[in-house]
Amino acid sequence: MKRYAFLLALPLLVGLTACHARRTAQKPDPLRNAYGTEVDWNNSDHLIPLDYEQSQGKRLFYIYCVWCHADSTPAGPSNRYNLTPTPHLMNDGAVLNSMSDQYLDNIITLGGSAMGKSAMMPPYGNTLTQAEIRHIIAYTRAIAEPPYHKPNRPLPQYKAR
Ligand code: HEC
Repeated sequence: MKRYAFLLALPLLVGLTACHARRTAQKPDPLRNAYGTEVDWNNSDHLIPLDYEQSQGKRLFYIYCVWCHADSTPAGPSNRYNLTPTPHLMNDGAVLNSMSDQYLDNIITLGGSAMGKSAMMPPYGNTLTQAEIRHIIAYTRAIAEPPYHKPNRPLPQYKAR
C-alpha cells in the first residue's frame, strides 16, 4: 500500500506542471527578441530586422560605443555633446556610408589618433576581437540612414573618403 502512495500525488503534480506551462506560455519574455531588431533611430515606428552578425554588433555597440555615438544611452543622456569634435551618430549614413569597411575597421581597431582624428575615439584592438569589430560594422551598415549600399569599387582604407 505504501508503495503506491505516490500515485495519489501524481494528479497534483501533473496539474501543477500544466498550470506552470500555461502561465509561461501566456507571458512571452520581452527580452527574447531584444537583439533581433533595432528601432530606427530616425523613425520609432520602424523596426529594422537584424541578422545574427548585426545583432551581435548591436550588443557590443550598446556596451562600448553608445556613450559617445548615440543621443541617448540605456543609462540616460549620452556624453556625445560634451565632446569636440562631436562623434557622428552611428546611423549617420550621410557620413559613414562613404567610409569603407576597412577604414571603419582601422579606426575602431587603432583609435582616432592613429587615423588623424580625435584621440577621444579610443582604440579597441585589444578589447574586441576582429570578428566582434566586423559585427559592429555590420550593425552600423544595417541601421544607416540613408541606407547603406555596398560600393562597386573598393573605397580607401586609410582615408575617410
Ligand atoms: C569616449 C567617446 C567615444 C567612444 C566610447 C567611442 N567613440 Fe568612436 N569616435 C569618438 C570621437 C571623438 C571620434 C572622432 C570624431 C572626429 O574626429 O570627427 C570618433 C570616431 C569614430 C568613427 C569614425 C567616424 C568619423 O566620424 O570619422 C567610427 C567608425 C567610430 N568612432 C566607431 C566607434 C565604435 C564602433 C565604438 C565602440 C566600439 C566607438 N566609436 C566608441 C568618440 C568615441
